[in-house]
Amino acid sequence: MSVTDTDMYDRSEVSMFGPSMHAIPMPGIRRMINMAAGKEDVIHLSIGQPDFPTPEHIIEAHIDALRAGQTGYTMDAGLPELLTALRDYYAERYKVDRLTEENFLITTGATEAMYLALSATAAPGRQFICTDPTFLLYAPLIRMNGGEVKLIPTRAEHGHQIDPQEVIDAMGMRTFAIVLNSPSNPTGTVYPRETVEAIVQEAAYRGIYVFADEVYDHLILDHMEFPSVISCTSDLDHVMSISSFSKTFSMAGLRIGWIISSQGAIRKLRRYHMFTTTVANTPAQWAGVAALRGDRSCVDTMVSEYRRRRDRVVELVNDAPWLQGYVPQGAFYIFPSLPRGTDGSKLALQLLDETGVCVIPGDAFGEECSNYIRISYSNSMDQIEEAFERMIPWLKKQKLGKDYK
Ligand SMILES: Cc1ncc(COP(=O)(O)O)c(C=O)c1O
Repeated sequence: MSVTDTDMYDRSEVSMFGPSMHAIPMPGIRRMINMAAGKEDVIHLSIGQPDFPTPEHIIEAHIDALRAGQTGYTMDAGLPELLTALRDYYAERYKVDRLTEENFLITTGATEAMYLALSATAAPGRQFICTDPTFLLYAPLIRMNGGEVKLIPTRAEHGHQIDPQEVIDAMGMRTFAIVLNSPSNPTGTVYPRETVEAIVQEAAYRGIYVFADEVYDHLILDHMEFPSVISCTSDLDHVMSISSFSKTFSMAGLRIGWIISSQGAIRKLRRYHMFTTTVANTPAQWAGVAALRGDRSCVDTMVSEYRRRRDRVVELVNDAPWLQGYVPQGAFYIFPSLPRGTDGSKLALQLLDETGVCVIPGDAFGEECSNYIRISYSNSMDQIEEAFERMIPWLKKQKLGKDYK
């Protein structure tokens, strides 16, 4: 048998990388974006970052920091001015005055924060409960480190809410932690205070940790209070809250995030952070200080526009044949279902090919959501209207379900 170039490549790949790399799938989002890159006249309802420009005073602060020579390393936990600004901000926003600077660690985006939290704790014999669908980072990070993932499915017909009792019933002897993401990517669902409190309190009682990804905590589209896990517990011994500037202030490329937890946990994670990225980007941390200390009305302006788009997208999804929608209350996503048995990946590819509209197939976010698609409305209202003008007639011509070809 001859050895082809492909065989050689595959073999060298297997021997080069350790087995943990098998836990990292080819992200479904990247696949779609790559497919769309080769096409003309594509409308993206696929984007996972804000489409607004970064507010000017934040850009100015970033540039000023560079000019002022702020180009060295900061302290390992982060820039002291940013740690204090974050402490003040959480005290103001969540009415929690027990946090000190020692409860924070500044990271390279929420991605590094999640990486540290999950890979420092996941281990064989430890089970992590996540929802299905969920943000694509968590399960691979847990599995890469030998941890086990237990999934709790959510459904469009229930607005992708979780029943806290179902989560509590899923907690067992091996459960080590629960990963919550509210507002959620990909569903836009915001869990109400009763849900978060019930889960956090039962978890603390059983010695189970809660890792909360709250990167969309400001993108709350209805007049409701956002119940951060930080405001649902009297101590931080069993919780880690993770967030960043990426979505709230439209500064995803500046890569600044943070973890809030007990001082003991932060001390341990600081050591790991030193061995991962050393410190977060220094001038970008100064941009973060400006974001928190400066005029924050820019956030309200962005949230109002997301709300306007959300209202329209909900109407358009309701008008579209085959799609089962709901009203997402946060972030900038909706995750409608297609008739049971429909292959969402096939649909997304065909939709892109035949209409130029790019959405993300549900299976990028979980194991039981192949008949879902994620629609992002981080795009202008005109583009959203045009995308649905293409999608709705196309969907009318399809025959979805298990016979969908
Ligand atoms: C739920 C969720 N968590 C974390 C991240 C990563 O955020 P950051 O840019 O701060 O790394 C994203 C980005 O899309 C996200 O949607």
